[in-house]
Amino acid sequence: MRAVVFTGDRSVTVQDVPDASVEGPEDVVVRISSSALCGTDLHMYDGRTGATPGLVLGHEPLGVVEQVGSAVEMVAPGDRVVIPTHLYCGLCVNCARGLSAACLRVRPGQFGAAYGYAGMGPYPGAQAELLRVPFADANCIPVPGEPGDDLEDDLVLLADAFVTGWHATELAQARPGATVAVFGAGTIGLLAAYSCLLKSAAEVFVVDAVPERLDKAGELGAVPVDYRLADPVEQIRELRRAGGLPPGEESMSGVDVGIDAVGFQAHDRAAPGSENPTQVISDLARLINPTGRLGIIGVYAERDLHPAPEGNPDGRLTVPWATLFSKGVSVGFGRTHDRRYTVLLRDLVLSGRARPGVVVTHHGRLDDAPGLYQAFDQRADGVVKAVLRP
Ligand SMILES: NC(=O)c1ccc[n+]([C@@H]2O[C@H](COP(=O)([O-])OP(=O)(O)OC[C@H]3O[C@@H](n4cnc5c(N)ncnc54)[C@H](O)[C@@H]3O)[C@@H](O)[C@H]2O)c1
Ligand SMILES: [Zn+2]
Ligand SMILES: [Zn+2]
Repeated sequence: MRAVVFTGDRSVTVQDVPDASVEGPEDVVVRISSSALCGTDLHMYDGRTGATPGLVLGHEPLGVVEQVGSAVEMVAPGDRVVIPTHLYCGLCVNCARGLSAACLRVRPGQFGAAYGYAGMGPYPGAQAELLRVPFADANCIPVPGEPGDDLEDDLVLLADAFVTGWHATELAQARPGATVAVFGAGTIGLLAAYSCLLKSAAEVFVVDAVPERLDKAGELGAVPVDYRLADPVEQIRELRRAGGLPPGEESMSGVDVGIDAVGFQAHDRAAPGSENPTQVISDLARLINPTGRLGIIGVYAERDLHPAPEGNPDGRLTVPWATLFSKGVSVGFGRTHDRRYTVLLRDLVLSGRARPGVVVTHHGRLDDAPGLYQAFDQRADGVVKAVLRP
């Protein structure tokens, strides 16, 4: 089968690799109809997180079941399914609690796993014609329709991006009436903002510096904030004041909910062209209102091969802990619990209440992957979300 293979820093090629196959009774093999690129792939593409050359990339698949193992009961050949990024067994104590990103059985001795992901288990990626799905009864989420139909882009975003955006709103307890700031207008930040709006947030600001991405935030109903123009914290406080804060609430000109959808490769606002892994958390600590909540879903790597000056190869960072303490801020971190959200969000899509596919900007065949990776890595050519259709 053909697959997108990581071949070294800023290099992927499309190669023939052995076909994915049913290796155990609980496996299925899925023929991929759509497989998206993600900011997480770029951490590997940039040579930061130690991916081994030869790794098949990709963790956001939609497709049709082709072969099933002898113990699989819930799906059959021909079923259209979306496959969550963070695979899980469905049965261990963490899965039973819905905390599937910490599944205890998919990476024995550790917790959680993902496809095509350095340091997250032995599971080849999904930017390929075929994918082996272990623990298939738990990991195949059935969806109606046919490959290539009107919902193809919405459904592929259920594999990771929409679910992660939603997870951020749960980590930060975004409730109706909340004021929200999302840092990062990549797919994850845009869909976190979209999730807040679905939950009836009062006001959602989205901070970035890429014009097409900020435009997309505006299209979704959020207020774009371009950090190249001025300190985004001051811009948001000014916008909130201009909107009219109730008497006595002048010191609440920040936000109730802050979301980091950038991660450790954040740009340094003071030194364009450089990274500062603490930029976003520092901005959020200044912006968050007393008793506010933060959801940190941008990735912070435990192993960074080329850390920025403020960084550290093992991910230790200096952050404004005292500010967060004195404001009484709650902070939630981590990977999304697909088990908890995927079906719920699928049903929002199927009912027509959510159309996350609006963030998809580019489509290509597998052979287009090298060019799309390059453009996406440079945040060029308007690429926000690219989807491969093998
Ligand atoms: N927690 C999870 O389960 C999970 C799942 C998927 C992705 N992620 C992570 O979420 C992050 C975003 O993913 P994506 O696909 O949207 O990536 P992306 O690279 O497309 O988007 C990141 C955006 O952040 C912006 N940015 C950089 N520095 C900034 C700063 N200082 N302030 C504001 N914006 C800044 C960039 O311009 C870019 O638009 C990545 O770290 C990714 O690994 C986490
Ligand atoms: Zn992803
Ligand atoms: Zn489990």
